[in-house]
Amino acid sequence: FLPKKKKQRDSLINLKIQKENPKVVNEIDIEDLKITNVCYCRCWRSKTFPVCDKSHIKHNELTGDNVGPLILKKKIR
Ligand code: FES
Repeated sequence: FLPKKKKQRDSLINLKIQKENPKVVNEIDIEDLKITNVCYCRCWRSKTFPVCDKSHIKHNELTGDNVGPLILKKKIR
């Protein structure tokens, strides 16, 4: 039997990104994207958060999880 607080800590998704903030929010203006494809992290393990650095691959191997990035694609006009 685990105390309630311990159970909640074990279920944290964000382990180290901007822990000083009460909520992590990122805003990206799509019009400012300079390249056609950008990958944003959804595993919360990227060292370049909010941009994906492929840390999800190691996370998935270690945990059996299946998370991956959000890929934004911009059409060139
Ligand atoms: Fe987090 Fe790729 S590093 S989704």
